[in-house]
Amino acid sequence: MDGNGRWAQLRGQPRAEGHRAGSQSVRRVVRACRRLGVRALTVYAFSEQNWERPEDEVSALMDLLKEFLIAERGEILGNGIRLQAVGNLGRLPGFVRAVLDPLRNESADNHEMTLTLALSYGGREEIAMAARELAADVKAGRIGEADITADALRLRMPSLAVGDPDLVIRTGGEQRISNFMLYGLAYAELVFSDKLWPDFTYEDLYSAIASYQSRERRFGRVGKPAVNVTSTVRA
Ligand code: FPP
Repeated sequence: MDGNGRWAQLRGQPRAEGHRAGSQSVRRVVRACRRLGVRALTVYAFSEQNWERPEDEVSALMDLLKEFLIAERGEILGNGIRLQAVGNLGRLPGFVRAVLDPLRNESADNHEMTLTLALSYGGREEIAMAARELAADVKAGRIGEADITADALRLRMPSLAVGDPDLVIRTGGEQRISNFMLYGLAYAELVFSDKLWPDFTYEDLYSAIASYQSRERRFGRVGKPAVNVTSTVRA
């Protein structure tokens, strides 16, 4: 969800205003995805590296997160949405956990869509955590070295509990991954939008999904056979 800061800058406003507009955009996209029948939506709201931002910006983001969770509670529970969070949640302030954790619990049995907030999240950090867990299992004799497979690692990654991502959208004009879901991205389809996140509309979402739908996913295998011209002529 890149581009909040620039959106505010263009209007001569503090960066926090960009994040505020960005959180409205999160609302829109969550609603649209629920309506479209998207089964899982993960939003990269705060990276492990974002703690390095100025204190007032971090604090504004944490406030917005809390506000978002309070304001969206009804919408989440009323629409069968299961709320999850992934990342180093222990670093989040108590006032965020105080609204996040109860909502995760209350929505745990919802099945229409899983909304995952990536908070204090880092893809490299998640891989390292999974590796540490497997190493501990080997050390304790619970599994053998040969059990450290690609799937075993994958199963240790909370961000992939909903499955590997099919489509990843990055807004804000940059064409990079910025430590998001590194392991799960192996065969994800990527869409880069020049729109700043607060300006990202339903139409932009639909157009990203349409682009995804028009692609042939091969997962390293060969594609569908091309039309055989000779047999077409014979026919
Ligand atoms: C990146 O834009 C955005 C973020 C680091 C924060 C995203 C947070 C929100 C949209 C609001 C809070 C979250 C929820 C779930 C309500 P940037 O600041 O890096 O933009 P820039 O590249 O233009 O500076």
